Amino acid sequence: MKTYIGVDLGTSSIKLTLIDSLGNILNEVSKDYPLYQKGLYSEQNPEDWWEAFTFCFDKLLEQQDRDCLEGLSFSGQMHGLVLLDKNDRIIRSCILWNDGRSEEETKYLNDVVGKDKLSEWTGNIAYAGFTAPKLLWVKNHEKELFQNIDKIMLPKDYIAYRLTGVFATDYSDASGTLYLDVKNKKWSENMLQILGISEVNLPKLFESTDVIGQAKEEFAYKHKVPKFKVVIGAGDNAASAIGMGIVNEGEVNISLGTSGTIFIPTNNYILPKENTLHSFVNTTGKYHLMGCILSAASTRKWWLENVLVDADYIQDETDIRNSQNDDLYFLPYLSGERSPHNDVNAKGAFIGLTHNTTKGDMSKAILEGVAFALRDCLEIAINNGCKFNKATICGGGSKSEIWNQIMSNVLNLPIYKSEGSGSFGAALLALHGINNINLENSEIINKLKSTKVYLPEKDKVEFYNSKYKVFRKLYPSLKAYF
Ligand code: XUL
Repeated sequence: MKTYIGVDLGTSSIKLTLIDSLGNILNEVSKDYPLYQKGLYSEQNPEDWWEAFTFCFDKLLEQQDRDCLEGLSFSGQMHGLVLLDKNDRIIRSCILWNDGRSEEETKYLNDVVGKDKLSEWTGNIAYAGFTAPKLLWVKNHEKELFQNIDKIMLPKDYIAYRLTGVFATDYSDASGTLYLDVKNKKWSENMLQILGISEVNLPKLFESTDVIGQAKEEFAYKHKVPKFKVVIGAGDNAASAIGMGIVNEGEVNISLGTSGTIFIPTNNYILPKENTLHSFVNTTGKYHLMGCILSAASTRKWWLENVLVDADYIQDETDIRNSQNDDLYFLPYLSGERSPHNDVNAKGAFIGLTHNTTKGDMSKAILEGVAFALRDCLEIAINNGCKFNKATICGGGSKSEIWNQIMSNVLNLPIYKSEGSGSFGAALLALHGINNINLENSEIINKLKSTKVYLPEKDKVEFYNSKYKVFRKLYPSLKAYF
């Protein structure tokens, strides 16, 4: 049977999943690589990605029939700025999605160019995490490097380029650059002018399921595989949604990773008032809204591993269950915040501590704070006419039973847990793209199973409705202090 590889190029690691043509997982391999963070800076070396990719590629196929490999596709961390010169040398480290250095440039784009214009041209406003403000930062602070730019690409597109020699990207990932005209699916001339670049510096645009080419001869020879097809794939949130079976309007996928996202497929292009949610293209060729909070599972990691130092996650779940305190609040803005506040200076905070506060109370407040921050995003979609009947949940944070239940109560939605992931979604994109199967009426996607469902509990839903009203007032009250 033919096989397909999905590659998830994440922030802390790369993960490769091998599936057969029925969508069964045959093998998975992952590898960590360094993340360089200092103050608001967050960078990675694309060379590290490539090394980890080739290492995992070999490991993945060690015990497999290599001749069956038909295709590969990607799920990529979004927004990162990868710059190559005309000899295809990497000009500088990649500036990542969670880098906050371009505050000035973001302000310039939103206040001087103007949010209205950005919205009209790109369907979005500027966030420090997006690619355009970072490019302006390089233009303003690293003038010589800027002049050497020949190719500007997103993280996964760098691996695709080295693998195939084809300079390509897809609409879902390109949506997060702030130089794609999302509504009309083409690069925005106005934005290119503002950034001082031209279309020759940018990759060719494809749908997520399009085959962009084949693996290079020398790669196929070195790794003892046929010259398999490469499907361009998607940004990691769009790819994860496919891996979780979320393709239709009315459903959402929640991801609790380093960042937290809420992914909302829509049949039509929606521009939320003041662009407090991202308006992006989906892998189906239609659109989606997305809220991205910058710290999700990473808040709990910070609390248990850095503050409490090596605390036990299982004990923590018990402590949370035993917590009687309902009056403690946590603002999860440990890396500033993207959706909906767009404030790199926002900070985390506990509000309501007393002598009686326990460790478990504080842990519970953290999980609730992240759930409330995601509800902030969901409320915007609801105010824009979206209706929901179910959610799926993925990412490291969703291993916590209690967090999934809190999420269901805070969002008042049934939440389905499954083993889907970005790399699995990417493998499905390869399988569907190469075999011309429509994502929206795919039996393989329809049949994806959830391992557990968390249903909203009526009394808790009411309790969290009241608590959320207070939560909403906290950030505006503290903003000036931040
Ligand atoms: C989405 C975003 C993050 C990254 C994480 O807008 O910035 O979810 O894609 O990899």
